[in-house]
Amino acid sequence: MSRQSFTVFVFLAAAAIGATEPKSVTFSKDVLPILQNRCQQCHRPGEAAPMSFLTYKETRPWAKAIKNALLRKTMPPWFADPNHGSFANDRRLSQSEIDTLVAWADSNAREGNPKDAPAPVTYSDGWTIGKPDVIFEMRDEYKIPASGAIDYAYIVIPTNFTEDKWAERIEVRPGNRGVLHHILVQSRAPGVPFMTEAKPGVPFSPTPAKIANGDDTGRGFFFRLGGGVEMVSSYHPGGDASDMRPGQARLIKAGSDLILQMHYTANGKETTDRSRIGIVFARKPPKERVVNTFIGNMMLRIPPNDPNAEVVARLPIYEDVKLQSMSPHMHVRGKAMEVRVTYPDGRKETLLNVPKYDFNWQLTYRLRDPKVLPKGTQFEIVAHYDNSANNRHNPDPSKEVRWGPQTWEEMLAAWIDFAIPAGMDPGLVAHSKKVEATPEP
Ligand code: HEC
Repeated sequence: MSRQSFTVFVFLAAAAIGATEPKSVTFSKDVLPILQNRCQQCHRPGEAAPMSFLTYKETRPWAKAIKNALLRKTMPPWFADPNHGSFANDRRLSQSEIDTLVAWADSNAREGNPKDAPAPVTYSDGWTIGKPDVIFEMRDEYKIPASGAIDYAYIVIPTNFTEDKWAERIEVRPGNRGVLHHILVQSRAPGVPFMTEAKPGVPFSPTPAKIANGDDTGRGFFFRLGGGVEMVSSYHPGGDASDMRPGQARLIKAGSDLILQMHYTANGKETTDRSRIGIVFARKPPKERVVNTFIGNMMLRIPPNDPNAEVVARLPIYEDVKLQSMSPHMHVRGKAMEVRVTYPDGRKETLLNVPKYDFNWQLTYRLRDPKVLPKGTQFEIVAHYDNSANNRHNPDPSKEVRWGPQTWEEMLAAWIDFAIPAGMDPGLVAHSKKVEATPEP
């Protein structure tokens, strides 16, 4: 062996050891870039997570917890089974990112040389969709108590649109992130008898008694394709603003109202919130209209003490559509959900599998590549519930559980975004006239 190749050999061996040797991992050089990419959108002051990972000092005490959360896959929040579907907003870390953070925790979680650190990311408090053409704001500050459970509050905001509008981007900006579990924004076309008891600007909390007496708030009927009420945007901790792709927009009809569903959680001191919605209109007519629908089963009955009750919801599609995203929704007994389709030729496919559903995280899974589903495709949503005492979130295992908007009642709902040709009546997709024949609760 020549002297030169020997040197090269030694050098390569050292490099190989360096790659697996945990001692070389430092916060500044290796860890911070990963935290910036994957964690800081929630782990910074004022955001959803209770602790900040902006600096070494803040992060160091959490090194072991970070290692455990990554190995147990509890963080970042992402619950889709990787064997089904490929998602544009997938939050999972790569194996090498996980290895780096674990090696750091295992080697005394050292800071290293601060000069190696990337520049801090600047987080603006502005709109992420650009300057909105129109901004809607809650009429009043909403008061959040220091403690206790808070019912969902619905707030109606009239758009006063005098013509139909194509919304290209819609963003919800919470006024007070520290107390917001989520905000859903629904558009209600004029004349649709949904949430009729809610007066514009005045927070409204439906009670089970009102729903039993025929109030319409508990019914998913209006959320069916063409039903007149549509989810158009939402805020969740760490969520992204908008799901539209080039050439797409959502239609908000003249005279529509926006209905905000506010889920507040108390955080120890009395405070207030006043959230806003910004909309950027399409500059030219879109090619495709994005519509949201609900595939649910309002007849569900979950037997007492059943650790694994199965409930199924189905929806046939009567036109070609492009599937863009799916959001499973259940309450505290929800355990798992799978979105399956059967194609017209009989072939079956699982599009999303969430084997361990967590009510605290209402995630939307956006397909990396929108998927064309030919007419004649049948959706089948298979949900499992744990109504046993083993479910630590279960308020009462001895009760049969039925459909309802409160967390102690249940839901089986998958919210689905489809793209259809801009001029098409979304009602045609689900032949809503036929669907209407199914019994209502
Ligand atoms: C979408 C928002 C979000 C993202 C992204 C996120 N976290 Fe969290 N994290 C939270 C929230 C909220 C909590 C507190 C509630 C909880 O424990 O579920 C939390 C709690 C934690 C905890 C303490 C609880 C536990 O499971 O041990 C650790 C450790 C943690 N996160 C690490 C991380 C790391 C590391 C990343 C990035 C790789 C990350 N998180 C990304 C929101 C997020």
